Amino acid sequence: MKTDANRPIGVFDSGVGGLTVAHALKQVMPEESMIYFGDTAHLPYGEKSPEAILHYADKITRFLMDQNCKTVVIACNTASSVAYRPLRDSYGEEVDIVNVIDPVVEYYLSHLAPAKVGVIGTKATIRSGAYEKKIKGISPEANVISRATPLLVPMIEEGFIFDNISNAIIRAYLSDEALRSVEALILGCTHYPIIKNQISKFYDFSVEILDSAAIVARTVKNLLDRRGLLRRKKGDGEKDVFYVSDYTSYFEKISGMFFEEKINLKKLDLWKDE
Ligand code: DGL
Repeated sequence: MKTDANRPIGVFDSGVGGLTVAHALKQVMPEESMIYFGDTAHLPYGEKSPEAILHYADKITRFLMDQNCKTVVIACNTASSVAYRPLRDSYGEEVDIVNVIDPVVEYYLSHLAPAKVGVIGTKATIRSGAYEKKIKGISPEANVISRATPLLVPMIEEGFIFDNISNAIIRAYLSDEALRSVEALILGCTHYPIIKNQISKFYDFSVEILDSAAIVARTVKNLLDRRGLLRRKKGDGEKDVFYVSDYTSYFEKISGMFFEEKINLKKLDLWKDE
């Protein structure tokens, strides 16, 4: 592995969801630079087969490595649940790859277990059983309720947030009998922190809602620190770059929720020669 700490952190997701993680990374490490890839052309990943998701995630990881990234953060639960292991097996010697599931599972086990925990995520994430397997692998008696909530990603990507439509959809999903009685809820999709407040409100703010953003950002910081790869000083005039595989005006708009300055947005189709 290369030792130059001034290299950027690579982050990717299918769309705007990973911005929740990107924002948290910048909060805990403002001096770091970042390259973000939102695979908006293939969104939603949650409806795709594991083979397709791995195919997209592999290409993006390769691209971020070619951009000289010092670590690659899979800021997507769906890609983390099906592509993390194969990517780590292929590229783990060359670059550190971080997924968004393990840090949250560790947090739950060390801070909240044995509280009855719900996990909501895309169809692909819930079908993979990633959270349940990891939690029960360490704590077999854990009470874990997993439910797919597939309308939430298109709803958020279409800009239905903080309104009656999003409230009705959130209510319809969380009214599920088993989910209603959880003591903690894992937002198993990086898009969901965008509607975290509405979800908390459904539970009258009495349920601990866990999302990956801040927890994963701390994990990445610790990892870089251990590797001696933490950057001490920001480069002059350096700007983070945000690539999307298809341009949507909404991506830029939602980025305004997370970053004060207008982002440096570029369209890049990594699959055009296929
Ligand atoms: N943000 C992604 C996740 O964490 C998924 C969204 C999608 O279905 O594309 O699962």
